[in-house]
Amino acid sequence: MAYNLLKGKKGIIFGALNDQSIAWKIAEKCYEEGAQIVLTNAPIALRMGEINKLAEACGNAPVIPADVTSNDDLKNLLQKSLEHFGGPVNFILHSVGMSMNMRKNNPYTSLNYDFTHKTFDISAISFHRLLQLAYQMDAISEWGSVVALTYIAAQRVFPDYNEMADAKALLESITRSFGFQYAKKKKVRINTVSQSPTRTTAGSGVKGFEGFISFAEKMSPLGNATAEDCADYCVTLFSDLTKMVTMQNLFHDGGFSFTGVTAEVIEQMEKSL
Ligand SMILES: NC(=O)c1ccc[n+]([C@@H]2O[C@H](COP(=O)([O-])OP(=O)(O)OC[C@H]3O[C@@H](n4cnc5c(N)ncnc54)[C@H](O)[C@@H]3O)[C@@H](O)[C@H]2O)c1
Repeated sequence: MAYNLLKGKKGIIFGALNDQSIAWKIAEKCYEEGAQIVLTNAPIALRMGEINKLAEACGNAPVIPADVTSNDDLKNLLQKSLEHFGGPVNFILHSVGMSMNMRKNNPYTSLNYDFTHKTFDISAISFHRLLQLAYQMDAISEWGSVVALTYIAAQRVFPDYNEMADAKALLESITRSFGFQYAKKKKVRINTVSQSPTRTTAGSGVKGFEGFISFAEKMSPLGNATAEDCADYCVTLFSDLTKMVTMQNLFHDGGFSFTGVTAEVIEQMEKSL
């Protein structure tokens, strides 16, 4: 059921790779709620062509390539989006993450630092880069809303989440620091949503992901939040109903973050005794 929560709003969605991507569900939901969108991803990801199906389903949304580590690409994306919409955007979703160390199975105690720099650049510094350009180009309208997706490994240790945990901590810090600046300048609000483990291309790259997702399910009193649930939540954050929320890391995890233990987990432990 749609509520027209984003009627008349215009936004840019980063990171829809395929129909498993959290950004894919968010794009669909934003469109369903009345928004016009521009879609973007790294040129290499666009070559797969999957995104064209999404663009078609979202009112023939323009697809503009941008590698988030490139200033020129992001500048071009913002310029083209402003031209397309005839003015500033109301919302932006940053749903981007990548770790070559994880892909190559390098453990946290044996990182390749070239890869680590790349992880930080793609998964965290890109958020500052995007916000700085938007700030300088005045690309986000007053009371606009920017959301980036993150994970609880920024606060607690999940050993196999590797250096991505550090990238997420930086992402959340940038959210606070830039959130302050942009609120002062233009009342633009900036938040991170800390999502449950979700079966996606990036998610499945985490070692032991299947065991972990089932552990999280048992540890969350509401169960794991799905990508569709995340899309609903992001719609509220892009809407005018959450205007005074900024600089926050918002847990969207079925209660996982504040649960110590559950009967289901204890039962599982007793079975293995
Ligand atoms: N899946 C999970 O369990 C989970 C949980 C919490 C948070 N998140 C976060 O959600 C976000 C989206 O991930 P997802 O799980 O939907 O996986 P996904 O693989 O579908 O999305 C990751 C996206 O990042 C894009 N990307 C990578 N390098 C890029 C670059 N240089 N320039 C532009 N785009 C680039 C990829 O093309 C892809 O579209 C990530 O920030 C991830 O850390 C995921």
